[in-house]
Amino acid sequence: MAGLDGRVTVSNMEIVDGAGVVVTGGGGGIGRAIARRLAAEGARVVVNDLDPAAAEAVAAEVKGVAAPGDAGTADGVAQLIAAARAHLGEIDVYCSNAGTGGGTSAAAPDDHVWQRVWEVNTMAHVRAARELLPGWLERGRGTFVITASAAGLLTMLGAAPYSVTKHAAEAYAEWLAATYSHRGLTVHCICPQGVRTQMLADSGHAGETVLMDAAIEPEQVADALCAAMTEGRFLVLPHPEVRDYYALRATDTDKWLRGMNKLQRRIEEKEKA
Ligand SMILES: NC(=O)c1ccc[n+]([C@@H]2O[C@H](COP(=O)([O-])OP(=O)(O)OC[C@H]3O[C@@H](n4cnc5c(N)ncnc54)[C@H](O)[C@@H]3O)[C@@H](O)[C@H]2O)c1
Repeated sequence: MAGLDGRVTVSNMEIVDGAGVVVTGGGGGIGRAIARRLAAEGARVVVNDLDPAAAEAVAAEVKGVAAPGDAGTADGVAQLIAAARAHLGEIDVYCSNAGTGGGTSAAAPDDHVWQRVWEVNTMAHVRAARELLPGWLERGRGTFVITASAAGLLTMLGAAPYSVTKHAAEAYAEWLAATYSHRGLTVHCICPQGVRTQMLADSGHAGETVLMDAAIEPEQVADALCAAMTEGRFLVLPHPEVRDYYALRATDTDKWLRGMNKLQRRIEEKEKA
């Protein structure tokens, strides 16, 4: 239950044992680590991924069920939730984790980049919540986990569509929590910086310059999520320093922007070298 300060007073980890859990993008990286960790805590896990073989492999490992498909389309989300309900009965925890990095600059085109990144990084959460909320509100209980990014609180250089759609994901998570906490919805929003996954490996000079040094393992993200579930905390910050950057951005935006632009110039020097 949520107290007046918005903190959940009963540990949400208690409900993971035996819970029906869905993880999108669970075939690799952060999603796989979350699937493994929640299964180890006793959850029954449905593993979604675009890559059917990856979904099958993780599902077999966690003694769960694979539900491959595209979490970035309306049909994909509807089919996943129907398949998960068929296997689990109720979905107790939905981890909307799949994301895409696509698109680098201000010149990124509308259709193939901005729209696709918007569908995967933002609309996937909106569509899943639309399907799940009526049942959760009726039961007075449900947990929605959104993997956004520190880019959703700050920005990611070299990735305009990613930064914008992760801000939208974080804003949507906040809106859900603000609107439905008193009716039994618990929301966690995961906002890491660099995590050693394929996505980071593909992030080019910007990722190398900004994220690589402080990059962490996907398992640390899953640990941070479990800690936040135990404490009933909305923001999951596997890199604690993000809280300070976020505060600086809010209180001295120009200083923060000057720092970011300095980093941008370092990326450009690397690109020229
Ligand atoms: N790696 C990082 O540094 C980092 C940092 C902050 C946030 N994130 C976020 O974490 C989430 C997971 O990223 P990751 O680093 O584990 O990536 P990853 O590329 O290592 O793994 C993502 C998995 O999701 C699957 N996938 C991609 N698009 C999908 C779709 N439309 N439907 C279903 N499955 C899909 C991929 O096949 C892959 O198995 C993303 O939302 C990402 O934006 C990653």
